[in-house]
Amino acid sequence: MSQVNNSRISNIDLAPQGHLAIDWARRHSPLVDGFLRERLNDGALAGRRVAVVVHLEAKTAFLATVLADAGAEVVVAGSNPHSTRDEIAAALVDRGIQVHSTRGSGYEAWEKDLLSIADTGPEFIIDDGAELTIRMASQRPDLFSELRGITEQTTTGVSRLVELAKRDRLPCPALAANDAACKHLFDNKYGTGQSTIQAILNLTNMLMAGKKVGILGYGWVGRGIAAHVRALGGTAFIVEVDPVKGLEAFMDGHQVGDLDMVLPEADFVITATGGRRALSRKDFGGMKRGVILANAGHHDLEIDVEALADEATDFRVVREGIDEYQLAGDHSVLVLASGALVNIAGGLGHPIEIMDLSFAVQGVGCHELARGAVAEGVHVIDPAIDSEIAKAKLAFHGISLEQKQSHQEDTIDDLLGPEG
Ligand SMILES: NC(=O)c1ccc[n+]([C@@H]2O[C@H](COP(=O)([O-])OP(=O)(O)OC[C@H]3O[C@@H](n4cnc5c(N)ncnc54)[C@H](O)[C@@H]3O)[C@@H](O)[C@H]2O)c1
Repeated sequence: MSQVNNSRISNIDLAPQGHLAIDWARRHSPLVDGFLRERLNDGALAGRRVAVVVHLEAKTAFLATVLADAGAEVVVAGSNPHSTRDEIAAALVDRGIQVHSTRGSGYEAWEKDLLSIADTGPEFIIDDGAELTIRMASQRPDLFSELRGITEQTTTGVSRLVELAKRDRLPCPALAANDAACKHLFDNKYGTGQSTIQAILNLTNMLMAGKKVGILGYGWVGRGIAAHVRALGGTAFIVEVDPVKGLEAFMDGHQVGDLDMVLPEADFVITATGGRRALSRKDFGGMKRGVILANAGHHDLEIDVEALADEATDFRVVREGIDEYQLAGDHSVLVLASGALVNIAGGLGHPIEIMDLSFAVQGVGCHELARGAVAEGVHVIDPAIDSEIAKAKLAFHGISLEQKQSHQEDTIDDLLGPEG
């Protein structure tokens, strides 16, 4: 364990590897490196204390360095105990940024790290799953009441912030970065879809063509996963609780059914509901023998791994990132990445180009909060900013769009005649 500049990280000697990875992320992040940097030039973040609590890998680290370059006092922790990259944490510390995070720390140490971040008294939080916000609300109420703004990455975190606001426990303005078009339309769908399937295939070294894949939840994430399953020749079996989403999955050409229909058939089962225990104790016995389970939702608890362990007669790690639980009747269930988000804890996370969009939203969101441009409550970022981000991304790809002309507008004037 290394302790440099009040940080708690695994090993500072890993920094050179981390610098290379962060530089690779920078090369493919034109929005964070250009659009965001320009916004921050006005000094709104200079000297302000910003906590970044997002999965600690190269793209997150690059965002942290851009905020620090703009003069912010940045502190960083990972938003999940399984997803931190130790070389990235080391590189940030080497750059003078305080970090509290180690890979596979266990929940207790992770919570302690979050509280160490809380104790630096952040004014702004760039959060994921509202993991720091919720802990400050419950365990550091005095510092919590001093917060000036929160910007939140995920569907699950936004629900938590809305719940805090309903209970009159949100002390400052909050931005639902997840709800910006430039975030969920691309990150939740394309980014999570691709990286989840990529991680599953890399961890298992298996083929998707011909596989039956149960997908729990057909929200933005479920849709993206199903599309990538299909693209590689697999068949998606969707399980939903919302009839409209179930119908959408059906119309998209996927198989749709309940757990009783899907679980005995599926070779892989992927959870993407945003809730807890989507796969619970009653479900494991009815699954296909040797089924492989993976989670793409925020909670490590979407697959109730504790209940599975409790039911199991034997356990072994069969390959890095793959745990096998032996059940009665010569039946076994395999779990990837311990049930944590498979694309991040068991893979390289989202593609860089996707996080460039998501972090442009988060970074600009933090800037808007620092400018005092956001009212109390939970809000979506101004749609005009969303459009600017999309325009900047298109411009990077050399694409410009048409401008609508006044004669192209639909109007009811002609139909109503001179009387109006
Ligand atoms: N892995 C990643 O990198 C990543 C990226 C983005 C979002 N997320 C997380 O993924 C989760 C889903 O996000 P989203 O944007 O798709 O949310 P969403 O709200 O759009 O979709 C969730 C869907 O799950 C359905 N659902 C809820 N409980 C269910 C159950 N028990 N069985 C079947 N279906 C159920 C809901 O009806 C809904 O359609 C969230 O936790 C979010 O934070 C993860």
